Amino acid sequence: MQKDTITLTNNQTGKTYEYNILEGSRGPSVIDIRTFFADTGMFTYDPGYTSTASCESQITFIDGGKGELRYRGVAIEDLANNHSYLETCFLLLNGHLPSKEELLKLDLEIRHRAYLHRGLNSLFDAFPDNAHPMATLSAAVTALASFYNEHLDMENEEEYLEMAHRIISKIPTIAAFAYRHSLGIPFIEPDIDLSFTKNFLTMMRAYPGGKMHLCDKGHEDIKEVEVRALDTIFTLHADHEQNASTTVVRGVASTGAHPYVAIASGISALWGRAHGGANESVIAQLEYIGSVDKVEAFIEKAKDPDDAFRLMGFGHRVYKNFDPRAQILKKLQDELREELGLDSELMAIARKIEEIALSDEYFISRNLYPNIDFYTGIILTALQIPKSMFTPIFVIGRTVGWITQWIEFKKDETSKIARPRQLYTGK
Ligand code: ACO
Repeated sequence: MQKDTITLTNNQTGKTYEYNILEGSRGPSVIDIRTFFADTGMFTYDPGYTSTASCESQITFIDGGKGELRYRGVAIEDLANNHSYLETCFLLLNGHLPSKEELLKLDLEIRHRAYLHRGLNSLFDAFPDNAHPMATLSAAVTALASFYNEHLDMENEEEYLEMAHRIISKIPTIAAFAYRHSLGIPFIEPDIDLSFTKNFLTMMRAYPGGKMHLCDKGHEDIKEVEVRALDTIFTLHADHEQNASTTVVRGVASTGAHPYVAIASGISALWGRAHGGANESVIAQLEYIGSVDKVEAFIEKAKDPDDAFRLMGFGHRVYKNFDPRAQILKKLQDELREELGLDSELMAIARKIEEIALSDEYFISRNLYPNIDFYTGIILTALQIPKSMFTPIFVIGRTVGWITQWIEFKKDETSKIARPRQLYTGK
């Protein structure tokens, strides 16, 4: 794994220091500076960790320049086109795709674990009407930790997997309950006869005791095409290596806290508009723009250095050519246009923004392309999912990634408490 060394010279003293260069299986080499402070008495400065690898990982690989994303070595395109979200969960947790029997076993377990302890129901009542489901979701997942103290001390693979399956299974129920509480309507309990994704859509849309759905096109059953679209969205969100929320999850893991509390912290971190909250902001922004003829004026606002306005759903810290997840969703969006009735004014505004931004020097020179959130909002709107649930849907997909990273952190004997240094400039 060690490739070579690098020598750094302090130009003030002329002293030199040698550091190992580590080579992973793919991606840029890494300078091992773990002894840097002890050697030099200095810290390194890297706000936003733009040049810092915080851990060693075998879960997800991204080549931002090439627009490549792989979970456990499997290309995201293959997973999105040929495998279900549950298969993807199995892959992330176990390192290989499941056999038929393994998938059936996981599917059954996930269906059975979807119920919440009844004691949790009263927690939802403590939240005001119109509470954002992300606030309720984060609090309910923290509360969930108190029902499973045994997950504080896990010793073997079986215990880790049980803990992971439990949270993956319960998150959709909590998200649906949080949403229904925000509307003041009764909860729909999970249905053991339904698949993971169909169950979530049903808990969101069904009336109690019946099969009529809260949908402005009349009382329709959930269509298979809707299930497939949402399942793909979950798969595309399942992991994304050391992003902001995953870094938070690992940071909380480093203190020895309960894994579900780490997940709750990840949920809070994801809520922000610069991260998972962008999908909600994309649609809010399209609604605010309101009509195709106003798009150019908003593009000018986004380009103005004195204006804080940013085009939501554009740009990415890692992808600098294209976001492969966005490409898959753009294709899916085009396929679903007819079946789901996507051709609305919002779609037309989105298409105009995409068209102008992709040919504008400002966006080209800064490598600003539509990211995954630009397309999820449009598809989720067509699935009758309200804006406030876009980020909770991201949470449902990402929970497997967070928990897999949490487990990897725990098993890594070199893991330490996250404790960065600072460049002090105060009094
Ligand atoms: N609209 C207009 N200008 C932008 C945008 C945007 N969406 N994003 C970046 N820029 C500009 C910045 O103003 C800056 O310009 P300058 O060099 O003239 O100062 C330049 O591009 C670089 O921007 P940074 O903020 O330094 O880029 P960074 O990599 O730190 O940020 C981020 C990435 C946070 C995603 C940013 O592009 C952004 O705010 N996008 C909008 C929010 C969004 O869509 N977030 C979802 C990300 S994907 C995800 O989390 C699933």
